[in-house]
Amino acid sequence: MKLDILLGLQWGDEGKGKIVDVLTPAYDVIARFQGGPNAGHTLEFNGIKHVLHTIPSGIFHPNKINIIGNGVVIDPVVFQKEIESLEKIGVNPVENLLISKKAHLILPTHKWIDAMLEEQKGERKVGSTLKGIGPTYTDKAARVGFRICDILANDFLDRFERIYKTHTDLLIKNSFDPQEEIATVFNNWLNALQTLLRFKLIDSEYEVNYFLKEERKVLAEGAQGTLLDIDFGSYPFVTSSNTVAAGACTGLGVAPNQTGRIIGIVKAYCTRVGNGPFPTELFDETGELLRKQGHEFGSTTGRPRRCGWLDLVALKYAIMINGVTEMVLTKPDVMDNFDTIKICTAYQMGDKITTRFPTEIDEEIIPVYKEFRGWNQKLSVEKDYENLPQAFKEYVAFIEEATGVPIRIVSTGPDRSETIIRA
Ligand code: GDP
Ligand code: IMO
Ligand code: MG
Repeated sequence: MKLDILLGLQWGDEGKGKIVDVLTPAYDVIARFQGGPNAGHTLEFNGIKHVLHTIPSGIFHPNKINIIGNGVVIDPVVFQKEIESLEKIGVNPVENLLISKKAHLILPTHKWIDAMLEEQKGERKVGSTLKGIGPTYTDKAARVGFRICDILANDFLDRFERIYKTHTDLLIKNSFDPQEEIATVFNNWLNALQTLLRFKLIDSEYEVNYFLKEERKVLAEGAQGTLLDIDFGSYPFVTSSNTVAAGACTGLGVAPNQTGRIIGIVKAYCTRVGNGPFPTELFDETGELLRKQGHEFGSTTGRPRRCGWLDLVALKYAIMINGVTEMVLTKPDVMDNFDTIKICTAYQMGDKITTRFPTEIDEEIIPVYKEFRGWNQKLSVEKDYENLPQAFKEYVAFIEEATGVPIRIVSTGPDRSETIIRA
């Protein structure tokens, strides 16, 4: 059995959480492979809305295994809160959530360093979620990080004190004031480790490969999106992990020749939280309408998301990098009452037209748009793709033809039930 990978093809918040939840019945195992609590994956069903940050989105289905892989960074305090809120609604994750011993831990000092570095950047600020993601991955790459297996070690305190001292030296040198009671924050963090210790801490690469060998179906759940990837995103306005399909191999320990379907999630328009280039961003009332009707406010930070038209230049780039085999189109319903819908097919830069996604966007890009007539109908009332309005089907067909990738699922609302799976 091959590892299927589901990931975002834009700047995050494409609706990955909802689609993983919809697809979970067809899988035995759901595994997160990168990112950390910068992610906010929203699921809605039976009138409940739930936002997950670290825990895979398969957790609401009983008898399914969920894995937090080695590529993920975990904040024990956020994790504890997530577990508590699941237990409050009767979900018992202890039995079916497994955590890699190789996953790195976010310390409170990582968050402070995140804030300090962002502050120092001034105008060049990334717009980080300030969850400590960058500094934690920095420590991982610098080979000084603190992992889940360190909690289990006999010299746990020595290991902890080593990293703690390095961090505090740096913060003091920069006169950083965390504006929090340091002892309390660390006590809470150390207490939260107890919640992690309730779970099975495993060598997840062995587990995942064993499941695949035993013909069990495994789905890797991406966080963030391709354009936030540390290598291929709009650097430096990116996150600190590989969000692309290759990241699932390193983030779970699965060989590239063991990967199967690559399911790309694409929102019918674009959004971005934080700073960085966004060629099709709208600053007018249409952008405002997308934000309002799409409830485009960050699931993790509550910040308003920047909104704009669908960008095929960026989408085709994402499809190429990930080897996407099929797409899921989310949130077209947000444009149910639009008379005209636009899709960007190329960029005009100076007097040149290009369909390549540039490495650095240092001059003004004028998007070249193709216009579509709106469908002016409520999509979510339909359950059968064939009954959807003709104008909508033409819009879908255009995206499929332009990208060469089929759209297998159309999501027409936030609820689990508002999903059309095409024959
Ligand atoms: P993720 O980070 O990719 O999992 O996406 P988020 O959960 O951060 O953001 C997606 C938002 O859109 C959430 O509030 C979802 O409940 C909602 N959503 C997902 N799919 C659809 C859809 O097809 N239509 C509408 N209207 N909302 C959706
Ligand atoms: P999900 O999984 C949208 C953005 C931040 C910032 C940049 C770096 O819900 O799609 P970081 O906290 O990683 O240092 O922030 O990346 N960002 C996201 N934007 N969705 C996310 O996750 C994001 N995770 C990080 O806003 O611009
Ligand atoms: Mg999100």
